[in-house]
Amino acid sequence: MIGASAYGMTTSPRIDLDRLLGRLDAFNRIGALPGGGNCRLALSDEDRAGRDLLVRWMRDLGLTVTVDAIGNIIGVRGGEDVAPVMFGSHIDSVGTGGRYDGLYGVLAGLETCEALNDAGRATRRPLALVAFTNEEGSRFPPYAMGSLVYVGGLALEEAYAIRGIDGATVGEELRRIGYVGTVRPGFLTPHAYVELHIEQGPILESEGVVIGAVEGITGLSWTEVAITGRAAHAGTTPMHLRRDAAWAAGEIAVFVRRLAQGMGGHQKGTVGRIELYPNLVNVVAERAVLTVDLRNTDETLLQDAKRQLAGFLDRLAAQEQVAIATRSLARFAPVSFPTEMVSLIETTARELAFSCRRLPSGAGHDAQMMARLCPATMIFVPSVGGLSHNVREHTEPAHLEAGAAMLLHSVLRLAE
Ligand code: GLV
Ligand code: MN
Ligand code: MN
Repeated sequence: MIGASAYGMTTSPRIDLDRLLGRLDAFNRIGALPGGGNCRLALSDEDRAGRDLLVRWMRDLGLTVTVDAIGNIIGVRGGEDVAPVMFGSHIDSVGTGGRYDGLYGVLAGLETCEALNDAGRATRRPLALVAFTNEEGSRFPPYAMGSLVYVGGLALEEAYAIRGIDGATVGEELRRIGYVGTVRPGFLTPHAYVELHIEQGPILESEGVVIGAVEGITGLSWTEVAITGRAAHAGTTPMHLRRDAAWAAGEIAVFVRRLAQGMGGHQKGTVGRIELYPNLVNVVAERAVLTVDLRNTDETLLQDAKRQLAGFLDRLAAQEQVAIATRSLARFAPVSFPTEMVSLIETTARELAFSCRRLPSGAGHDAQMMARLCPATMIFVPSVGGLSHNVREHTEPAHLEAGAAMLLHSVLRLAE
């Protein structure tokens, strides 16, 4: 433990950008894709390799590492016997992820700890750096699973039983990679939680603003839609006699796009996965399984979007004589972060002379779950071209440095 007495002389802590970039490079060799970007799907071998590296780096900095029963990794830098300031994000990625989504927040957290070590600076509150399990949810829905379990929003046994897109369960895979800890998720109740993340959208870049003070997180609904029609010969079956699951899937994708465009504002709608069976050139599809991702920062509008989708599915089933079954994969209401936490980010930005604006997040994050447990907020930095969940995801080094400095000084404010 690094206690207050461990340090004599102190200097002002500062971020070492080269060290941060070096860690990002080294970490991103894990799960690197041939054309750039990364695949570290939750609880995969690549996720395990990333976890092993992170734990080593945490221990190198003198952090006390705990793995909880859902595999969240928490490294604590000591302080007095009071609630810690928690910060971090996730190290898993979508299947075709970029270099920064999640990982940046965790490695900037390590850099925060190392900058404090270098400066000989102790904090009154302990600092708890966290990498939450399965933030992406691409392999195992819902997203932000580790933080959701941490705050008691999903029972451990339920989480273990969740089956992923490849048939494996969370429990089996956690055990396989050796990351089922014995400690109860939620074992630390933080004084506050701060998450640094790339924006993943175009607002900061287009306005030339360096820092986003995140006011809240969009509400979200993920639905799996399974359509059952009838397999038939593509050459002999008259068009009016078909019960075509592929056509119905296509109609849903078109509807979702039009729905979101028609509603405007913060409404988003995405069909990101479609699977067809038997998926052959000359067979009318018997079955289609697809996902619908609906999001809105306004809960009432999100409910309206869901109602419109449900009505459309009913009409479509009748029209094409197909059966349509739905299953909810994730449903979260929008979250507003406390004003004092958002103001703290703005004050820190002013102090460090970074331009700053408030904005909502259209992406889901662990901070959204942590907000149930303690005051939480997020810091965003610009994403080039607003691109994320894409191997070309990029953030300029100067912005990575600015965000890390923001994290360091926000955490310091909260920890004193
Ligand atoms: C999670 O990262 C999401 O917003 O899809
Ligand atoms: Mn993320
Ligand atoms: Mn993501």
